[in-house]
Amino acid sequence: MVYQASDKRYEHMAYKRCGHSGLKLSKIALGLWHNFGGVDQYENMQRLIQTAFDRGITHFDLANNYGPPPGSAEIHFGQMLANELKPYRDELIISTKAGFKMWDGPYGDWGSRKYLISSLDQSLKRMNLDYVDIFYHHRPDPETPIEETMQTLDHIVRQGKALYVGISNYGPEDTLHAVRILRDLGTPCLIHQHSYSMLNRGVENGLLDTLGELQVGGIAFCPLAQGLLTNKYLKGIPEDSRASKSHGFLQQDLITDEVIGKVNALNDIAKERGQSLAQMALSWVLRHEIMAAVLIGASKVSQVEDCVACLETLHFSQEELTNIDGILS
Ligand SMILES: NC(=O)c1ccc[n+]([C@@H]2O[C@H](COP(=O)([O-])OP(=O)(O)OC[C@H]3O[C@@H](n4cnc5c(N)ncnc54)[C@H](OP(=O)(O)O)[C@@H]3O)[C@@H](O)[C@H]2O)c1
Repeated sequence: MVYQASDKRYEHMAYKRCGHSGLKLSKIALGLWHNFGGVDQYENMQRLIQTAFDRGITHFDLANNYGPPPGSAEIHFGQMLANELKPYRDELIISTKAGFKMWDGPYGDWGSRKYLISSLDQSLKRMNLDYVDIFYHHRPDPETPIEETMQTLDHIVRQGKALYVGISNYGPEDTLHAVRILRDLGTPCLIHQHSYSMLNRGVENGLLDTLGELQVGGIAFCPLAQGLLTNKYLKGIPEDSRASKSHGFLQQDLITDEVIGKVNALNDIAKERGQSLAQMALSWVLRHEIMAAVLIGASKVSQVEDCVACLETLHFSQEELTNIDGILS
């Protein structure tokens, strides 16, 4: 059956301006790091993407290396674009990245002009796109001059292969440096993608303030700590979970009694708020003014639906925030 997007798709999602830019992002974005590779079921991917779009998620996040095998998530997304999503291209924000190892030899990793330009060309081919909406440098490169990497991002925008650029996993100082170079080149840095969740608060030590000062939007990856900040691991490790998969990035040794104790206590607060724990974890990240969106992953349609519903209860009382801090400290 031909996919027809829901005509109610913009009724329940919230869209937020990303930093000082013209671009609004859906507050919930869907990432294709897990569950969209060659090891996964194509029909499930289709259901996830269609459900997300039907619920107002317009932003889909990829990277050259998502799979496994690397590149397969982009190929699958390209197939869905060619088949069911084609009429909706202008309603989508598609991002991809380069910065981690993608191919052998000295030109398939890090941040050189040679790597970034070849990699984006490969990504565009895999997705059968003329341009992506956002292209990221995936991680800082300690060896390549940051000027070269930023000049390449500027060049990519001028070539029309990306509409906007962003950086990911850059610390506060490197962020300041990169954003200034891009600004001088005339291609503003749209967005910074970083890990942020109740179990990983590192960005509170400077990065969020830096983004606020620079007016660069933030988007949080792993806002559910890869599933730990949900009720799924409260009674052990379910068979179909990321932690149980050999290609999953969630290490079982992270699921300690101490962590589960905290997750249980957070779950009680979530219940009092009338939310699932996943919903509370997402609302908690979105409470920062500079956060444009949370970037979730999902293996099931019901997870996408559950996560999107976090938008119904975004507000936290001071007491709730203090209690959460107490659990996390
Ligand atoms: N820039 C970077 O360096 C970087 C790094 C990592 C990720 N990312 C991006 O961030 C995206 C999201 O990362 P992530 O997948 O780790 O995010 P996450 O949202 O923290 O974890 C997603 C996992 O949580 C579980 N889940 C989601 N919603 C749930 C719900 N409502 N109830 C119960 N369980 C739920 C699912 O686990 P199960 O699969 O076990 O069901 C799902 O696969 C990636 O796809 C990628 O686009 C970027």
